[in-house]
Amino acid sequence: MPEKPKDNPTEIAADPGTTGSVPVEAAPAQGERRHDYLLTLVHEFRNPLAALAGAVDILEDELRPYLDPEKREFFDIVEISLVRLNQMLDEMLELTALEGREIKLNYEVADVAALCRDVLAEYEPRAEVFKVTLNRIKAEGDLPKVECDPELITRVIANLVSNAVKYNKPGGEVTVSVSARDGNLRVAVADTGTGIPEADFAKVFTRFYRAPEVRQRKIAGTGLGLVIAKNIVELHGGEMSFASRAGHGSTFWFAIPVKRPEITEAKNDETGS
Ligand SMILES: Nc1ncnc2c1ncn2[C@@H]1O[C@H](COP(=O)(O)OP(=O)(O)OP(=O)(O)O)[C@@H](O)[C@H]1O
Ligand SMILES: [Mg+2]
Repeated sequence: MPEKPKDNPTEIAADPGTTGSVPVEAAPAQGERRHDYLLTLVHEFRNPLAALAGAVDILEDELRPYLDPEKREFFDIVEISLVRLNQMLDEMLELTALEGREIKLNYEVADVAALCRDVLAEYEPRAEVFKVTLNRIKAEGDLPKVECDPELITRVIANLVSNAVKYNKPGGEVTVSVSARDGNLRVAVADTGTGIPEADFAKVFTRFYRAPEVRQRKIAGTGLGLVIAKNIVELHGGEMSFASRAGHGSTFWFAIPVKRPEITEAKNDETGS
């Protein structure tokens, strides 16, 4: 069984030895220069990548009929790698925007348990491939609707469920629990998977972290999903953390305020008056 996550977020933050609470605010602390540098870097990669993709397309069209099947596979490898590189650049751009707090939240009143259900339905086929059972949502009592950006919160849930599936074991399970306490809505995604080695806890919310075993097994991913997710949650005034035991499983959770933070409301009031 995965280690039961602690309910009090401050307890988790105060105990870095056994949990993975590492503030992502630390990442852009080196200031705007790093932010601009990253943006430039990402944009600079775009053109050569597009040129490469175009050239490979032309070569492929011309050469494919003359190549035996094993050699044709090289083109597939190049194409998959190009797609992944572009995805990485998209994620880096998004992360840079999130860290620079340039993303505006489109607040709506959302039923977060329903968002979780949608994500679970979406991941059902993938879970079948990994031979993992997605359990029904555990919703505690009457859950309040939440003021949040439903699209971004869905992305957070999707990353956690995706991880819980792909870093699981055949025959394993994933359970999503939703509860409300002290004005916050909390979503926890528990799995019976590989868990995370304690020595790596501090790295989990850092860019491009991927456990050695995951790299070895060549499970697809870029190591940016959790950093993006944590940034989205913090943009909502919430927090995210995890508890994990290597070989037994993990529980990743986040909590966001049911009401949008006052600071945004005050701004709206001012503009309205
Ligand atoms: N539920 C989990 N169980 C075990 N390891 C996990 C779990 N979630 C994350 N990890 C570890 O943390 C790493 C980072 O996760 P993250 O979601 O940020 O990136 P990713 O899944 O590798 O790629 P992507 O950017 O596509 O999400 C993973 O590669 C994996 O090693
Ligand atoms: Mg991921």
